[in-house]
Amino acid sequence: MYRSSCFYSEEASNKIMEAQNQNLKTILPLSLGRFHISEDYGFLLPNPLKELPSHYKPWMEIANKLPYLLESHQLRVHVNKMPLLNCQFLKGYREQRLAHLVLSFITMGYVWQEGETQPARILPRNLALPFVEVSRNLGLPPILLHSDLVLTNWTKRNPEGYERKENLDIIIAFPGGESLRGFILVTLLVEKAAVPGIKALVQSVNAILQSSQDSLLQALQQLRLSIQDITKSLKQMHDYVDPDIFYAVIRIFLSGWKDNSAMPAGLIYEGVSKEPLKYSGGSAAQSTVLHAFDEFLGICHSKESGDFLHRMRDYMPPCHKAFIEEIHSAPSLREYTLSSRNCQLLTAYNQCIEALAELRSYHINMVTKYLITAAAKAKVRKLSHLPEPPQVLEERGTGGTAVLSFLKSVRDKTLESILHQTD
Ligand code: HEM
Repeated sequence: MYRSSCFYSEEASNKIMEAQNQNLKTILPLSLGRFHISEDYGFLLPNPLKELPSHYKPWMEIANKLPYLLESHQLRVHVNKMPLLNCQFLKGYREQRLAHLVLSFITMGYVWQEGETQPARILPRNLALPFVEVSRNLGLPPILLHSDLVLTNWTKRNPEGYERKENLDIIIAFPGGESLRGFILVTLLVEKAAVPGIKALVQSVNAILQSSQDSLLQALQQLRLSIQDITKSLKQMHDYVDPDIFYAVIRIFLSGWKDNSAMPAGLIYEGVSKEPLKYSGGSAAQSTVLHAFDEFLGICHSKESGDFLHRMRDYMPPCHKAFIEEIHSAPSLREYTLSSRNCQLLTAYNQCIEALAELRSYHINMVTKYLITAAAKAKVRKLSHLPEPPQVLEERGTGGTAVLSFLKSVRDKTLESILHQTD
């Protein structure tokens, strides 16, 4: 339905459409395959490997008993005795991804075994050298990433069954038992719920390229449903993750050595660099999903929040980062919606924005429960059966930002993107 009272004058909008059509002809249709993104699993690695070639048995043996080695304070001793292994026997992408997962878990355990007050300042060469080499091969930083913790760290108990919580398991663990498993698997379910949204995004970009408003409208409705599904998946965190365990046990192993006053200088990777290196910790801010949605919907974040989010893109597999950049250079959905003067499109666009802001509000509530309230509770009554929670990390997220003001700014900028008929 067109209404001349909406948006630009007809002449102006025709000019915009013409200019866009000129642009579009030179751009190929967008496809997930070009960026190694799975039609079934999105950014999740499909069917990740659980075993490395036998040459890497010393790594796997340590990784497979990481919770025990950390709880008994023996990990560092075992790692110090580990042989220096050559990475040349790692064949193919999936073995490299598993090697990154394994070495990143061992590294986080090694650094944080004795808690935040006694972090390791030097990563021994037998761990640092192969970790940096595998990281270079993959184009990733040598620290635990969302792509390790979640995207590569899953398996189906029954290979024929569906990706439901009951049929899923993780491959490598930290201490934290069922809460750790729940934290990782619920995040995985969020990634899975995003798959129809990512496909809808691709359909939308191609619909704009072809000037097909019907297809665009349908795709935007699909995108909104997928965002709402993500929020539903997120809600499962409450069923599976105990906030006290998350706060006191799990969180430290996700912490990095950049903007972290427990390790102000960073970490020396022995044999790699004499200077300490600084990297942010693992965070779902490194998930490609919301970056892709923000870019597609044309949401502009504040300078400070935007800088942090942009930095997180360097912590993603390079092909996923390239996908976000491709969306950035695709024709603007906002401009197309405005110039189309199609009120149904405007409504569908706004419903996506509202769903995304709701998702972010829900996430803020979760962060309040799992970080802020858990911190306050831990202060008041020292949990007798749990180790001392990390102090330095209290006010900040694992990625090292002033959590709530950052998250609220990101949510508020999302809402500010609502289009009005007079825009
Ligand atoms: C107990 C559960 C969770 C906690 C405590 C938590 C905490 C945080 C924190 C502290 C940040 C700020 C950035 C940083 O410091 O790294 C953040 C950002 C973010 N988190 Fe979570 N998070 C949780 C679960 C999730 C899940 C399951 C997802 C979905 C994939 C998610 C998606 C994001 C995103 C996309 C950002 C960047 C901000 C944005 O785009 O809105 N988080 N989270």
